[in-house]
Amino acid sequence: MSQRISLTRYLVEKQRVDGHIPSQLRLLLEVVARSCKSISHAVNKGALGGVLGTAGSENVQGEVQKKLDIIANEVLIEANEWGGHLAAMASEEMDSIYVVPNRYPQGEYLLLFDPLDGSSNIDVNVSIGTIFSVLKMPEDDRGVDEGDFLQPGHKQVAAGYCVYGPQTTLVLTVGDGVAMFTLDREQGSFVLTQEDVQIPADTKEFAINMSNMRHWDAPVKRYIDECLQGKEGPRGKDFNMRWIASMVADVHRILTRGGIFMYPWDKREPDKPGKLRLMYEANPMSWLVEQAGGAATNGRGRILDITPTKLHERVSVILGSKNEVERVTAYHREG
Ligand code: AHG
Ligand code: MN
Ligand code: MN
Repeated sequence: MSQRISLTRYLVEKQRVDGHIPSQLRLLLEVVARSCKSISHAVNKGALGGVLGTAGSENVQGEVQKKLDIIANEVLIEANEWGGHLAAMASEEMDSIYVVPNRYPQGEYLLLFDPLDGSSNIDVNVSIGTIFSVLKMPEDDRGVDEGDFLQPGHKQVAAGYCVYGPQTTLVLTVGDGVAMFTLDREQGSFVLTQEDVQIPADTKEFAINMSNMRHWDAPVKRYIDECLQGKEGPRGKDFNMRWIASMVADVHRILTRGGIFMYPWDKREPDKPGKLRLMYEANPMSWLVEQAGGAATNGRGRILDITPTKLHERVSVILGSKNEVERVTAYHREG
């Protein structure tokens, strides 16, 4: 790109020229980006900053919390509570919603986040990230409560993630395509490095935790089995496998060069719809993927059309290159 466009300028121009980012939303996205910058610094310090290891607590889903899960959560809360742009926040790492305290003005937006995605990769120095989703308070609502958050993903007004990898990259949609910004550490700002991100409709790369194969349902087994047969099988081409175990990094690869990502329902815990969380992980990622020309389903239907019944709801996730996602979804319909 010949001219450097900062995230700030990108958002100002989105507000001024396209007119569809209100100023509160622009402020919100700036603050989220600033939070990601400071999480990125904490991640980079690693052992030198004393940020590695477990915190000795569990979250509401019974998962052991890492120090960075908690640090990232605190950074996001502290940065976002005072600006007047939010009514409340919800996080994978908090049992219930966090209402903006009375001492600050209340805004019209709701912010949801997975503060640190890929926790199992923190201590081994593999890419991790922050995922976020923005909703609007329902109109004429008096007093925010958990029910206000239970909106289907197609109601999101902004979504994105920041991946802390070899580079720190912020990926964003406000509903008119996907843009990527790389953190320039010397300048301390995110710089636009790719606009109009497009996922190729076809791919030869799949991402799934193969160790769960024996627990999968028949349609997923069939799809992966056909991929594994390669050139000699019904697909007539060889496939490659990648599994980073940080959804944020797997989705980033898919937005960059295509592929299909799956964390399907499986028989280990049949009562749970899946491992990943609908509102902190699946919804923002599904919207980004759709905005880049891909598709996202739970095997039966579009993820963005699911109306959540509770804050920490889980869901089966199949997303990425359109033709592959449609194939797996068709296998579910047939089976
Ligand atoms: P989190 O660290 O926020 O709990 O999320 C981890 C998720 C997701 O990022 C990743 O795709 C998946 O869990 C990895 O699961 P496995 O450990 O089964 O590979
Ligand atoms: Mn996660
Ligand atoms: Mn997490």
